[in-house]
Amino acid sequence: MGINIPITKPYLGEEEKQLISKVIDSGWVSQGPKVAEFEKMFAEYVGAKYAIATTSCTTALHSALSVSGMGHGDEIIVPSLSFIATANSVVHCGATPVFVEIDPETCNINPDKIESAITKKTKAIMPVHQMGLPAEIDSIREIANRHGLKVIEDAACAIASEYKGKRIGGHGNIACFSFHPRKMITTGEGGMITTDDCNIAERLRRFRHHGMSISDIERHKADKVIIESYPEIGYNYRMTDIQGAMGIAQLKKLPFILERRRQIAGFYNKALSEIRHIRVPKIPDHIYHNYQSYWIEILVSSPVSRDAIMERLLDKGIATRRGIMAIHMERCYSKYRVFLPETERITKSTVILPLYPSMSDEEQRYVVQRIKEVLQ
Ligand SMILES: Cc1ncc(COP(=O)(O)O)c(C=O)c1O
Repeated sequence: MGINIPITKPYLGEEEKQLISKVIDSGWVSQGPKVAEFEKMFAEYVGAKYAIATTSCTTALHSALSVSGMGHGDEIIVPSLSFIATANSVVHCGATPVFVEIDPETCNINPDKIESAITKKTKAIMPVHQMGLPAEIDSIREIANRHGLKVIEDAACAIASEYKGKRIGGHGNIACFSFHPRKMITTGEGGMITTDDCNIAERLRRFRHHGMSISDIERHKADKVIIESYPEIGYNYRMTDIQGAMGIAQLKKLPFILERRRQIAGFYNKALSEIRHIRVPKIPDHIYHNYQSYWIEILVSSPVSRDAIMERLLDKGIATRRGIMAIHMERCYSKYRVFLPETERITKSTVILPLYPSMSDEEQRYVVQRIKEVLQ
């Protein structure tokens, strides 16, 4: 058969190798000047005052929730239709996730369903920009302001996406991003938190560095002995300079990556909307989508089940993934009994298709053609 189309392929090359090898030559491979440079570039790119790098988006979320004061007895509103790390990060800081229904059009938390989930214990709303498509931040913030709640964005997939003309991360809330290889840009593993609040930024820097009062780089540069102190308990959530260098190279490629993803999604949108039994994503006018993931819904009219379609595509050399999981349906969250019919329908009926910057026209046509055959 000879064709093998993966779900994604990170866009890496010589630029990453060169920057990484310079870091190795420098001898400073733990967190240092390259992470600081990457943070500065990232903050400028999204339009936030500060960016703080971490080891993953999961640890970014844990840090953001913790320094925002979330802990035992607190409730945090999240969508269930998300990767499990969204809810895990809430549990990691001792709080309780409260799962809220999505809008099936966008697969994002439905603002109309948030208010009825707010109790005296609610402390924050954590919208997820699912698959890169921004959630309704303005309505969510309006509800949060009315009830005195914080908004912390799970922006794992949303690097370069825009809401009402402004990039995610630049809307004044704390936002957490991922650099896992399935995301827009990668550092192998890695995360970033953006904020406009200098106090929060300072506390996040300490939190990721064992709660220590001074960073390694500050101590290294000092011309006198500095004895550090530990004003609060922290973690080791430090990104390395090897990853920082990779992030810098990746960020420079982001405009190209974004353009390619949008071109390929444009092709899918057109070609797949002509096939019966499929629903393609519909993007609201005020949203600029990065297409970090491209999903389709298999309608109930389909003669073939979602799972059988995935099996048949795999037989033809095409990797797919089930749509986003529903966290409340997993065994480890079985004590959180909620009924979310739209979430349950969407998780069972959607498929994520291959999409990566180096995907050729032939590969794109091959995917569409095979889907057409399977559904006939
Ligand atoms: C919505 C969402 N939140 C959080 C995460 C966790 O990101 P990381 O793998 O960087 O910890 C992911 C990763 O897939 C995600 O999709």
